[in-house]
Amino acid sequence: MTAEVALEARNLSFSYRAGQLPVIDDFSAGFHYGALTVVTGPSGTGKSTLLYLLALMLRETMGEVWCAGERVSGLSDAERSMLRASRYGFVFQDALLDPALTIADNICESAVFAGMPIDRARERAQQLMDDFGVGHRATHRPGEISGGQAQRVALCRALLTEPTIVFGDEPTGNLDRQSADVVWDALARHAHVTGACVLVATHDESRIASADVHVDLSR
Ligand SMILES: Nc1ncnc2c1ncn2[C@@H]1O[C@H](COP(=O)(O)OP(=O)(O)OP(=O)(O)O)[C@@H](O)[C@H]1O
Ligand SMILES: [Mg+2]
Repeated sequence: MTAEVALEARNLSFSYRAGQLPVIDDFSAGFHYGALTVVTGPSGTGKSTLLYLLALMLRETMGEVWCAGERVSGLSDAERSMLRASRYGFVFQDALLDPALTIADNICESAVFAGMPIDRARERAQQLMDDFGVGHRATHRPGEISGGQAQRVALCRALLTEPTIVFGDEPTGNLDRQSADVVWDALARHAHVTGACVLVATHDESRIASADVHVDLSR
């Protein structure tokens, strides 16, 4: 049985500036629930750009993005933000935590924006922090934790709402092998156990073997 398509790019093209060659040029692909997709390609080939387009953080110049059978390209900015907060999780390369908030508040903020009751968000955040070995840092601020811990906190934030679609933009780029394995294992589990659609851009070609689908942007 073929799993349902979670996310679809239909003839996507994108240029950062009008008149420039597109970074993403007529890209079409479907991404399924329950699958871990790895996106590779040399620096500058558009891995981050593709993820930002699919995650509704950039608007395509041409083409369409579909999510769970719905065309989401035409949604308003507010609707796109709500969809991102409720259904998507995103792990950025540099964690991108808010330095003014505690670790726990960093993890909960967007889920509460999406409507999750604060008590439930805090409870689940604590569970995730404990699972990823950062539970004792809940009341600390991002400036007080290590890079590897920050990346695990970013992962907790991305998984808090149990999102059906998760993106990772080189989520392990700054980590040692052991910390990187923790993050990769969690992302693979989220795809294979929870049944989410997970897309990860990486330079690390050794991860291709553990992926269900490989998108190579260098071709
Ligand atoms: N904000 C921007 N404005 C203009 N050009 C940009 C912008 N962001 C990226 N680019 C250009 O778009 C192209 C694709 O960039 P992108 O960041 O998607 O590549 P990447 O494959 O993720 O690279 P890396 O492996 O270095 O992260 C590059 O040529 C880059 O210089
Ligand atoms: Mg990139």
